[in-house]
Amino acid sequence: MATVAITGAARGIAFELARQHAERGDRVFALARDPAGAEALNALADASGGLISVHAMDVGDNASVASGAAGTGTDAIDVLYNVAGVTGKAEPQLDGIDWDDFDQSVEIMLKGPLRVLSAFLPRLSAGSKVINFSSQLGASTWPYGGYWPYAAVKAGLGRMMRSVAFDLRDRGIVVGIIHPGYVSTDMSGPGADITPQESAAAIIRLTDGWAIEETGEFYKWNGEKHAW
Ligand SMILES: NC(=O)c1ccc[n+]([C@@H]2O[C@H](COP(=O)([O-])OP(=O)(O)OC[C@H]3O[C@@H](n4cnc5c(N)ncnc54)[C@H](OP(=O)(O)O)[C@@H]3O)[C@@H](O)[C@H]2O)c1
Repeated sequence: MATVAITGAARGIAFELARQHAERGDRVFALARDPAGAEALNALADASGGLISVHAMDVGDNASVASGAAGTGTDAIDVLYNVAGVTGKAEPQLDGIDWDDFDQSVEIMLKGPLRVLSAFLPRLSAGSKVINFSSQLGASTWPYGGYWPYAAVKAGLGRMMRSVAFDLRDRGIVVGIIHPGYVSTDMSGPGADITPQESAAAIIRLTDGWAIEETGEFYKWNGEKHAW
């Protein structure tokens, strides 16, 4: 049985990661911005026989991350998934940049994963894995415009976590960066390529096999290396 912590677990891919990890008998700390409004997650936890517990954590807020991590106790963490994300402005205007929107993306998807990693670091050790959700939009190969805050933040997340991977390598802690696929969640809508179930199952397989030799790498959900 592994012990797993997942941010943004109320919906989407993170919810499905929680469900599938519990299904195989893992202990899951499901971290959600608003547990009271996370009805599906609470129902999943209630039916999990104690394997899933729900805890409040807004990854954009220092105090919330500290209290959320503390609320999960002191158990060693085998896998930490940094999943929480927002789309931000899809078609930003150069003559009217919404800086609040930009800052929110930075707080949630760039500083957020580092806050969360830092809060759980005392409970990570050799063999632990920290899997960070980037996107194909954060790669130099993405051939479209728009989504500047999202793309910039995901690119920065990958570069930052690659550095963190070097810094944690001697402690045997794996730090991974992934693109989870184009997934039919609230974020990408029903026309996307794969389901959250398919994405989460593939990511769990990928995480299981992620060795320290591959720390700091950027992978697609399906195990192919992603271009930076
Ligand atoms: N879906 C895709 O095609 C796709 C593609 C590439 C990358 N990704 C990345 O994969 C991750 C998951 O995406 P998804 O499609 O599952 O998204 P989603 O269905 O929109 O779910 C986003 C989750 O993040 C949570 N969240 C947002 N802000 C938060 C905060 N400040 N603190 C804690 N939780 C917060 C949301 O909680 P609330 O319910 O409280 O809002 C929700 O549970 C994201 O990082 C996304 O950028 C997704």
